[in-house]
Amino acid sequence: MTASTPATSPHVMNTYGRVPIALQRGQGCRVWDVNGKEYLDALGGIAVNTLGHNHAKLVPALQHQLTQLIHTSNYYHVPLQEQLAQLLVERSGMSNVFFCNSGLEANEAALKIARKFGHDQGIEKPEVVVYEKAFHGRSIATLSATGNPKVQAGFGPLVEGFIRVPQNDIEALRRATEGNPNVVAVFFETIQGEGGVNPMRIEYLQQLRKLCDERGWLMMIDEVQCGMGRTGKWFAHQWAGIVPDVMPLAKGLGSGVPIGAVVAGPKAAAIFQPGNHGGTFGGNPLAMRAGVETIRIMEKDGLLENATRIGQCLTDGIGQALAGVQGFKEIRGQGLMIGIELDRPCGVLMQRALDAGLLISVTADSVVRLLPPLIMTEAEADEVMAILVPLIKTFLAEQA
Ligand SMILES: Cc1ncc(COP(=O)(O)O)c(C=O)c1O
Repeated sequence: MTASTPATSPHVMNTYGRVPIALQRGQGCRVWDVNGKEYLDALGGIAVNTLGHNHAKLVPALQHQLTQLIHTSNYYHVPLQEQLAQLLVERSGMSNVFFCNSGLEANEAALKIARKFGHDQGIEKPEVVVYEKAFHGRSIATLSATGNPKVQAGFGPLVEGFIRVPQNDIEALRRATEGNPNVVAVFFETIQGEGGVNPMRIEYLQQLRKLCDERGWLMMIDEVQCGMGRTGKWFAHQWAGIVPDVMPLAKGLGSGVPIGAVVAGPKAAAIFQPGNHGGTFGGNPLAMRAGVETIRIMEKDGLLENATRIGQCLTDGIGQALAGVQGFKEIRGQGLMIGIELDRPCGVLMQRALDAGLLISVTADSVVRLLPPLIMTEAEADEVMAILVPLIKTFLAEQA
């Protein structure tokens, strides 16, 4: 604890178990706290800071946008919405986009699309298949879709209309939905983030696409955390060669500027009509410019390839260094979405990494998670490993 970072704020609502530092500025993959201490950022604001901090091309573009328009209203056309929608449509193979401000908002919109899709067919109580260990946000509907009882505790009654199944088990899904005419959609993360970096298997995704087509269900993929180039493709499901019907996005899309989007394919693109959904801030010019510039810079600077290459360096390097170490279970993920699973709760590693000058997170109690900016260099990845591997080894040795 430092003199200038109070343990609890007297005025900010106490909703986060915060670690006791306050960050003041950043450059690339490095940030500095209010006391001048430097940290290497292997968390990227939880998969948000795609381009790192103070990016030389993004910041001037946003400065320019501030001098033009920050916000107008969705009463009017917003040409930057058209530009960003086109960039997303081209990269996803889908057709239309709705803009909002966050991941949970994008997921709320997706769930409303699923319900209206049902109602439009005369299904009065539409149901959506969701997954164990899923995380979709903290609004009442999205926490109901989330598969973590801790997130739901204290907020009942939950929203009804969800059927929960395990990941990667097509027979379990068939059994859970057999003879149920109310099912309208399947909703999942390609790689679960908060749930512990748990990937859907490629063949499962392909089976699921087939099943959705056979049954007339919407395939709705929450790419809020695993999307926007993090896995080395624009969207993580593209590794399976499938295209969803609905895809919520947020986090990395604006490189730090709050933004959310729901991308829809032909089956879902015309379900919302004027008056069905909206929001004051969604699609404002500042956020749209952030999205447009993020995508252009990612493309120009080869950041998808970089995510694959640096992700491989980290996964191979950490996997080899921890192989055979008692208590190390597995390293998994794709590109720069990496989970290192230990055989015991390891939340303390977040603080120890901070002390050593590294930003990481621990999720699902026992999974060290890395979500660095997609601009990370090989030298920086080496530095991450040089700090993290000894920390994990020491932790496991202490507790053996
Ligand atoms: C997969 C996924 N969906 C939705 C959300 C919620 O996004 P937000 O925090 O922007 O509401 C998150 C946040 O961690 C997420 O990882």
